[in-house]
Amino acid sequence: MTARPEVFAPLPVLPVLREMAPVAPPEVDPAIAEFRPGAHDTPSFFVWTLGCQMNQSDSEEMAGQLLAVGCERAPAMDVADLIVINTCAVREHAEARVIGRQGRLAELKKAKPGLRVVLTGCGVRESERSGLARRFPAVDMFLRPDEEPELALRLGLVSAQAPIGLRTAATAATTVVSGRAASAADHLAGNRAAALAEGRVARTSTLSAWLPIVYGCDKTCTYCIVPFSRGPERSRPFDDILAEARGIAAAGFRELTLLGQNVNSYGHDLPAEERFGHICTERSSGRKLDLRSRPDLAELLRSIDGIRGSDGNPAISRLRFITSHPWDLSDRLIEAMADCPSVCESLHLPIQSGDDEMLRRMGRQYTVEHYRERLARIRAAVPGIAVSTDVIVGFCGETDAQFEATLGVLEELRFDTVFAAAYSPRPGTPALAMADDVPAAVKRRRLNELLAAQEAIGLERNRAWLGRDVEVLVERITPPRRRLDPDDPDVDVSDEQASAVPPLEGSAGEGSVAMAGRTRHNKLVHLAGDPALVGQPVRIHIEHAGPFALRGHLVAAPNEPDVLA
Ligand code: SAM
Ligand code: SF4
Ligand code: F3S
Repeated sequence: MTARPEVFAPLPVLPVLREMAPVAPPEVDPAIAEFRPGAHDTPSFFVWTLGCQMNQSDSEEMAGQLLAVGCERAPAMDVADLIVINTCAVREHAEARVIGRQGRLAELKKAKPGLRVVLTGCGVRESERSGLARRFPAVDMFLRPDEEPELALRLGLVSAQAPIGLRTAATAATTVVSGRAASAADHLAGNRAAALAEGRVARTSTLSAWLPIVYGCDKTCTYCIVPFSRGPERSRPFDDILAEARGIAAAGFRELTLLGQNVNSYGHDLPAEERFGHICTERSSGRKLDLRSRPDLAELLRSIDGIRGSDGNPAISRLRFITSHPWDLSDRLIEAMADCPSVCESLHLPIQSGDDEMLRRMGRQYTVEHYRERLARIRAAVPGIAVSTDVIVGFCGETDAQFEATLGVLEELRFDTVFAAAYSPRPGTPALAMADDVPAAVKRRRLNELLAAQEAIGLERNRAWLGRDVEVLVERITPPRRRLDPDDPDVDVSDEQASAVPPLEGSAGEGSVAMAGRTRHNKLVHLAGDPALVGQPVRIHIEHAGPFALRGHLVAAPNEPDVLA
């Protein structure tokens, strides 16, 4: 592989959780000790999950813990004995949603004095722990993301008869070396392995499985709170991941998504091993690392793709990964994506801005040209691949011309989907030292302008599918059209997303219901059919394209492959 010159001088790695004070051994919180087994019945629980797929996966682990100690799920937040709020802190709005719920939670607690509220996720940062009780007055207990494996233990729900993993969840977390926590979240990989071995991961879908492969983030994006919430990157052992993938295949899941904030930097922190001696990847951008003889995402994709059924086909037919960083989109990864039949023809590759000076200020450490080159290479290797991206508008000092440059890049690169947001200053991030000088009204105007431009591009990209037959994995029955309240914790993320796409028009017909699923290219498709089709791959003839979704009807048999040249 050709080494490319480093684009910018490397920024220092942020001293995130590595610098944290030693963590005291967890104790049962006296405020919630009445959940102790024997004293009371085990509580029914409701987990309200905000944020990204990593949070959804973490919530599956927490729900698994609670189910393992005999708790039951409550059908809604209002009737639960225990509410676990898994927060997101990526933008102020995400935290404001939870702050805005405090009044309602206080009312619920008044009506039911035994109700307990736990707040976890990226909203719980050690550096701000002292202010949490003031901001979230209805909450009884706060857990950082790396403390989540201790949830049941700290609630006093773990009896001496509980599985070993649950009883020892706390000890690894509190390892202290030279007077400080060795690495506050190094135990996450071990806990995941124990949770899987003891059946304590309560997956919410029987169709698609999340599989975390790397925790935390080592990047230095100046606007981003994630490294402060989640700590440095820690990769799970290669064989643990493969074992989990084998289990997912054996359980009949059709889709597997590998998770990490930067899933394509997987493996750099693992020890070099002889069996990976053929790997000699170099980073083409960003901070240099010795990646030789260490497993990488390409190796993982090939190994998971190599888990085959008796028919010789990949046991898990759809393999995805999210999120990729342009630093680490190696040629090896691109080749693996092209070679592995199970790897889906879709990629999420955040660009953030179309202006080099903004990218420098954001600490992204690549140029638009670097991004352009990587995108061209992946599009050449995987023809028709659908690419989505993230953009931040109104970051510190962004001029009209720099925003126009971003619009120009979106017009040029023609993404299938763009997730755009206005810059939101986050506590403790390096960008706080810069002036947040783009007025709110300008941020809003730029955001609307960008979304309108992308709507036209998305529509054009989706129209290319008209008249084609595609494989759709049917995910769910779509609820009748209704006004979805995005602040309603009983509305899950997929419902929120569904509200942004055109519903199926007209009646679904006798015995038929409106359903939705996704193509390998991650296109949302509306269709009508027998409810028994949920969970099945079907062939759909696409007859309508909107900017955010497609609609079509069932065809009897597969014909052409869904490749968009
Ligand atoms: N790791 C991914 C990457 O390399 O870009 C993204 C993870 S981040 C949780 C998801 C997205 O949130 C980012 O891509 C960025 O666009 C957006 N984001 C992060 N911090 C933000 C902030 N302070 N204001 C607005 N958007 C932000
Ligand atoms: Fe945040 Fe992603 Fe940057 Fe990490 S790479 S700091 S998660 S935006
Ligand atoms: Fe939010 Fe944390 Fe994910 S800040 S986007 S939940 S990593």
